[in-house]
Amino acid sequence: MDKLNIKVILASVRDGRFGDKPAKWIAETAKEVENFTVELLDLKDYPLPIFSEAISPAYVQGEYANPLVNRWAEKISSADGFIVVTPEYNHGYPSSLKNNIDYLYKEWNKKPIGFVGYGTTGGAFAVGQLRQVAIELQMAPIRMATHIVSPWNMVEKDGSLKLGALDHYANGAKKMLEQLKWWTKVLKNAREIK
Ligand SMILES: Cc1cc2nc3c(=O)[nH]c(=O)nc-3n(C[C@H](O)[C@H](O)[C@H](O)COP(=O)(O)O)c2cc1C
Repeated sequence: MDKLNIKVILASVRDGRFGDKPAKWIAETAKEVENFTVELLDLKDYPLPIFSEAISPAYVQGEYANPLVNRWAEKISSADGFIVVTPEYNHGYPSSLKNNIDYLYKEWNKKPIGFVGYGTTGGAFAVGQLRQVAIELQMAPIRMATHIVSPWNMVEKDGSLKLGALDHYANGAKKMLEQLKWWTKVLKNAREIK
C-alpha cells in the first residue's frame, strides 16, 4: 500500500504553550501506525500575516504571492490526512489556526481531519467549531477525537510534561488513528476519481 502522508498541526503559538507536548505525543503515536508517514507542522514556523488577500484562495490559480504561503501550501497539499492539536481560547480555537486555515482552500479539499483538543472540557468547544470549518473546506472530520482534560495539572513546575501524564489517553488515541487511517486510505484513492 502507498504511504499515507499525515501532518500533525500544532495550533498554539504562545510562549510557554502546553500544545507542543500533546503534539509531539500524538505525532510519535501516529508514527507507529502502519503506512503512516508523519510530520509535525508547528504554526510558529508559518507566521502568516492576518489574512487580507484580495482574492479568495478558492479562486487562486498557481502560486500565491507570499513565498511563506507557498511553503505552507506545499505542506498542506502534500498531506493525505491531518491531526490538528488545538487549545481552547474563549470556547473557540485559536486565531493562529484560523488564519493559517483561511490562506488555503484546494489544498485541504477531500482529506480527512482528526483532532486532539485540550482544556477544561478537553477542548470540546474548539473541536466542535473546527468540524464545521472542515466541512466548508470539503474535508471529512472524523468522529473520534482525543480530549485532554485540565492539561495544567499535567506539567511540572519547569513546564515539562509529568511522566506518564498522557498514558490515560493512549488507547483512545490509537482508536482515533485507526479511524483516521481508514478515511485517509479511502479518500486518497477517491481523489483519483475526477
Ligand atoms: C486567551 C485564552 C482563553 C482561554 N479560554 C479557555 C476556554 O475557553 N476554555 C478552556 O478550557 N481553557 C481556556 N483557556 C486555558 C487554556 O486551556 C490553557 O491556557 C492552555 O494551556 C492553552 O493552550 P496552550 O498553552 O497550548 O496555548 C484559555 C487560555 C487563554 C490564553
